[in-house]
Amino acid sequence: MKTLMLSADAPDTAAIAAKLIREGQLVAIPTETVYGLGANGLDEGAVAKIFEAKGRPQDNPLILHICGPEQIGNFCAQVPPAAYQLAEAFWPGPLTMVLPARDIVPKRTTGGLNTVAIRCPDNDVTREVIRLAGVPIAAPSANLSGKPSTTTAQHVLHDHDGKIAAIVDGGPCRVGVESTIVDLTEQRPRLLRPGGIGPEALLTVLGDLVIDKAVTAQIDADAVVKAPGMKYRHYAPTEPVVIVSGSREKAAAYIRRHFEPGDRVLCFEEELPLYEGCAPLSYGREADVNTLSAGLFAALRELDDPAVHQVYARCPEGGGVAYAVQNRLKKAAAFHIVNAEEEV
Ligand code: TXA
Ligand code: MG
Repeated sequence: MKTLMLSADAPDTAAIAAKLIREGQLVAIPTETVYGLGANGLDEGAVAKIFEAKGRPQDNPLILHICGPEQIGNFCAQVPPAAYQLAEAFWPGPLTMVLPARDIVPKRTTGGLNTVAIRCPDNDVTREVIRLAGVPIAAPSANLSGKPSTTTAQHVLHDHDGKIAAIVDGGPCRVGVESTIVDLTEQRPRLLRPGGIGPEALLTVLGDLVIDKAVTAQIDADAVVKAPGMKYRHYAPTEPVVIVSGSREKAAAYIRRHFEPGDRVLCFEEELPLYEGCAPLSYGREADVNTLSAGLFAALRELDDPAVHQVYARCPEGGGVAYAVQNRLKKAAAFHIVNAEEEV
């Protein structure tokens, strides 16, 4: 199949994409976080194509993308007031909520669960596609399963050329890491995945938040976890990644001491001069964490090269979206972290 590349700016793009979605085809959609691989979330056959194209485990549920809070009740039951408060504060935006699912949502979409993840993306053309299609769009990140997420239309084309009907090209994604996921189906709200909305911002609305253990530690493949996607090796280039923490100077000294030909350094733009001769790749500025979240996955994809032996990575400190960058880098590194302040 020829994969159509549709510009988000072209006047008929939303209508063409919506028609393909209604026909049960796969269309990659831009969002403020990452590109999604979209299909009609109420059509089991269409949803099955997503799992096939990504090589995604069947038990890993999908997020339903909707136009706004007024649609939550169409797909979710027993919706608590907190869901509407979060939607009011953060939608359209990088926040996904897990709620009890209505029967209309196929089990294939929810990976067999009786809950469903739902979000309203901050992207005008994508919301227009959803509106014109008249159905919610189920969409995981558009990367092949286990690979770093797709933050440009070219990343999607690289992974799926000839296998999907169309890609809506909306340019590079602004946030660059996937949405924050909050589970609202238990007594206490639970953070399942950090993202564009930081835990501090959630707390101001919710007043309470449990951080799921899958956020802060490596989870065994056979463990029972709330967000099945969190247990898989993720976001990772093929070669080992090691995070080196500590001051700029100590980290550079450590990395330069251990660096071997074929290794790469993933660092902040401000640090590039410290790594001359060590094939450094900057993913953004430490002084502006939004550039780091926006650049992380493109950099990890660039490092996903058989010629690379090992990656030494620098990770930002702090909350907000930096917390999500830390989480994705730690997962890419399988939580392998060296503190340069303590190492000789
Ligand atoms: O920013 C995003 O969320 C992007 C864009 C495209 O919207 N989507 C995305 O989807 O990151 P995906 O499939 O790559 O990650 C969704 C995560 C997975 O870890 C999955 O296990 C979890 O959400 N999830 C989905 N439904 C769930 C549910 N009912 N309960 C718990 N976790 C769920
Ligand atoms: Mg994903």
